[in-house]
Amino acid sequence: MRISDTADLWWKTAVVYCLDVETFLDWDGDGVGDFAGVTERIDYLAELGITCLWLMPFYPTANRDDGYDITDFYGVDPRLGTHGDLVELVRTARDRGIRVIVDLVVNHTSDKHPWFKAARASKGSSFRDFYVWRAEKPDDDTSDQVVFPDQEDSIWELDERTGEYYLHRFYKHQPDLNVANPKVRDEIAKVMGFWLELGISGFRVDAVPFLLGLEGIADSQKEGFADPHDYLAALRSFLGRRTGDGILLGEVNLPYREQKKFFGGRDGDELTMMFDFVGMQNLFLSLAREDARPLARTLGRRPTINPDAQWASFLRNHDELTLDKLGEDERQEVFDAFGPDPDMQLFGRGLRRRLPPMLDGDPRRTRMAYSLMFSLPGTPALFYGEEIGMGENLDIEGRMAVRSPMQWSAERNGGFTTAAPSRLRRPVVAGPFGPEHVNVADQRTEPGSLLSFVALLIRRYRESPELGWADFTILEQPHHGVLAHDCRWEDRRMVAVHNLSSDRCTVPLQLTDTEPGSRLVDLLQTGATELDAVGRAEVAMDGYGYRWLRVVSPEGRRLA
Ligand code: NOJ
Repeated sequence: MRISDTADLWWKTAVVYCLDVETFLDWDGDGVGDFAGVTERIDYLAELGITCLWLMPFYPTANRDDGYDITDFYGVDPRLGTHGDLVELVRTARDRGIRVIVDLVVNHTSDKHPWFKAARASKGSSFRDFYVWRAEKPDDDTSDQVVFPDQEDSIWELDERTGEYYLHRFYKHQPDLNVANPKVRDEIAKVMGFWLELGISGFRVDAVPFLLGLEGIADSQKEGFADPHDYLAALRSFLGRRTGDGILLGEVNLPYREQKKFFGGRDGDELTMMFDFVGMQNLFLSLAREDARPLARTLGRRPTINPDAQWASFLRNHDELTLDKLGEDERQEVFDAFGPDPDMQLFGRGLRRRLPPMLDGDPRRTRMAYSLMFSLPGTPALFYGEEIGMGENLDIEGRMAVRSPMQWSAERNGGFTTAAPSRLRRPVVAGPFGPEHVNVADQRTEPGSLLSFVALLIRRYRESPELGWADFTILEQPHHGVLAHDCRWEDRRMVAVHNLSSDRCTVPLQLTDTEPGSRLVDLLQTGATELDAVGRAEVAMDGYGYRWLRVVSPEGRRLA
């Protein structure tokens, strides 16, 4: 392996940054963010150091699910700009070394999409089989299969006009597409091909298990579609043919053994990357307990994946912080620690909060959590505003509480727009996490700010490809509150130590295969620790302390 491999398999050491165009920066002053605004802030993102920008849906939409209910897969929402504005954004980003990926939401359409309008017009419509229908009234209870139990109690909805029921795993206004229909598959490929021609580098694929699900699809239609995973592999290979290095970053919130199939098993020919939902949930359990063992155990259970594939690590995203993979008592522990008020909870399974308020604004603990996330073997993904420690606005309904406008300055509307506050797409956060206290302008000139710290983490992560590529080992040590892990990629090696508890401690480390005279050089602060002749060292950790220690051998030539 050579360092140049990191340029070919770029996603293995990328830093992903997710934003919603409509809440990032409003450049034309109409209260809604736009492509021109994001383009204006590309240099901010470049300075932060991110390398892959994930744009949440920007397509024409009925806007009942924040853009995840699309009415035209080829269009752009005119409130955000034009195709031309998007291309300018993609091009400017590329110039600054940032690739752009976009949300591919093809499990369903909006019920206002012309395909569905045509499909429901009559049973004989040529678009009828674009969706999944059943004639008989569903007598089985499917309330446990709906994704949004606050709104829906069945995955089937009666269409009055034709008297049949259509499938929807999400809201009833989001009918599921029928991927067993080759015409639908052709359309999906065409949609991908279209955006790829505009210069994007791949897709964040929405709701992959549902997209591949064969629920309700008639046997006759399943012919020629025996294994949905072959279809996912076909999409990946199509992407490869069109771009060479495009990626599919999938949303697959399933247990690890299931996720492995979505990577394409040993062949690794399906999703390029997947978010590590299981790891994230156990990380929160560990934070709540101040005990690193749930996370350590989970990392130990992570399946081995094809070397070209990658896990995406994250703390928060645009949805609720789902805790659905934890046991009931474990989930309750996280609720008690980080969201005891029922108004902070959602669907009985998650929290509609951002990280810093969950940690009571404790700067040291917040930094430790980000340091830990960036040090996990994989590719880190940030949600806009995390880098400055934004909070949520619980006055905004449901999952949207974390999708408030980006806070650029202490000025009116947090500098997001010049429009009157009443015209904003969503209200800004008020209180201690509001723009007067948390904003980019203040933090960018402050070396001690969270923004400066996250930028440092990104720099060090990028300089340490062993974090993205390595085999890793959890190091034995006596403190339950501490996670120490050793990442090695040939002669590149880093040991990360995180203290999830508030108690200070000294951590004895024992590394194997170290050369005599090697040192542990601290990458986040100054200082170095000598390793003894058999690879031992003691590392002092503050409460909620974090350390990234590069293993430097006497002849080593790496920058440390
Ligand atoms: C998952 C997305 O993350 C969520 O925001 C959306 O509502 C559903 N898929 C439906 O598209």
